[in-house]
Amino acid sequence: MSKIALIFGVTGQDGAYLSNFLIRKKYIVHGVKRRSSSINTNRIDHIYQDPHLKKRNFILHYGDISDSISVSSLINKILPDEIYNLAAQSHVGVSFEIPEYTANVDGIGALRILETIRQNSHKKKIKYYQAGTSEMFGGDIIQKIQNEKTKFYPRSPYGAAKLYAHWITINYREAYNIFACNGILFNHESPIRGETFVTKKIVSGLCKIKSNKIEKIYLGNLYAKRDWGHAKDYVEAMWKMMQHKKPDDYVIATGKQYTVKEFVNLTSKLLNLKIYWKGKGINEKAYSTDGKVIIEIDKKYFRPTEVNSLLGSAIKARRILKWKPKITLQLLIKDMINHEKC
Ligand code: NAP
Ligand code: GDD
Repeated sequence: MSKIALIFGVTGQDGAYLSNFLIRKKYIVHGVKRRSSSINTNRIDHIYQDPHLKKRNFILHYGDISDSISVSSLINKILPDEIYNLAAQSHVGVSFEIPEYTANVDGIGALRILETIRQNSHKKKIKYYQAGTSEMFGGDIIQKIQNEKTKFYPRSPYGAAKLYAHWITINYREAYNIFACNGILFNHESPIRGETFVTKKIVSGLCKIKSNKIEKIYLGNLYAKRDWGHAKDYVEAMWKMMQHKKPDDYVIATGKQYTVKEFVNLTSKLLNLKIYWKGKGINEKAYSTDGKVIIEIDKKYFRPTEVNSLLGSAIKARRILKWKPKITLQLLIKDMINHEKC
């Protein structure tokens, strides 16, 4: 019999990749989407439109994880085998503007799901995946390479909210014997990454500059270092955690780190767009070979507290789950460029 999965956050980047992955594994996938005034299902519409798929394998419901009634009625009705909680206000910068909302959705949202799982445990043992993040580590006063044992020190309302979700997941696992896993995922990107995250902004912006659609883009901190992987690899890790005999917490990362500026340089090289840099600090700019400014710094993209360096060790996932990333940063950027069609 097919397993049933319920995905909160199905319309997001990871929700789309995970839906595809689970459908290929013959799951029946239920997804929760929010009501919005404009269409928010672009990333998953192709699943509906796939003539080879039976529609009943992919079912969407309206819901919101800030609304405990909708969370509990959906779980009570569907009684899935596995729940993936990917729903979040996922932008770190924006979390400084809407901290209470971020805490409600990214923190308490997890509790709403876990509590409904607990209340159903006499009927069905439902497994739970929590979309945790390297942002919980923070970065400044911790070890250079982060693993499951690294001390947490969140540097944003987003990181702090996710840390609550992390610990409440562990608490429900220990207190009520619920199969609940925390994935501590480092940055992962794809062609369908949200437009305001730095990788997508850079790839899409440089493509548009190359095809003369815009003149320049504005960025913030060029020297932040990130460990960037591909979402396609990372959703497989989520599923592997849920199939292991014991629930546990895992870091998922590539173990390689680049600055934002290095990401710009690599993208322009792959686009065959020659650039050079001049200036320092807020005045640092990238120029095209004909002397036009194509990248400028805008202070509005700086965060009140920044996570300067993230670099993960996924040795535990490699050893226990037999997971390792397959897609390099070069291939990730090529995939993103191909999608832009520039
Ligand atoms: P994303 O593209 O921003 O997707 C977030 C999803 O959550 C969207 O489907 C969004 O719906 C939904 N959502 C937001 N608020 C909601 C609410 N109140 N109720 C129900 N759904 C809600 O994020 P992603 O990159 O796919 O990331 C997936 C999860 O992994 C997130 O929890 C994120 O914090 C976490 N994470 C991401 C990364 C990464 O690098 N991508 C790394 C570590 C952890 P709309 O489409 O309607 O906005
Ligand atoms: N978004 C953005 N826009 N970031 C910029 C910009 C810009 O114009 N310029 C520089 N940056 C820097 C940010 O300050 C940050 O240091 C880095 O680029 C990456 O920013 P984002 O792409 O917004 O990602 P993030 O690392 O803050 O958060 C992402 O990864 C987390 C995992 O570590 C998100 O996907 C989170 O949801 C996720 O948990």
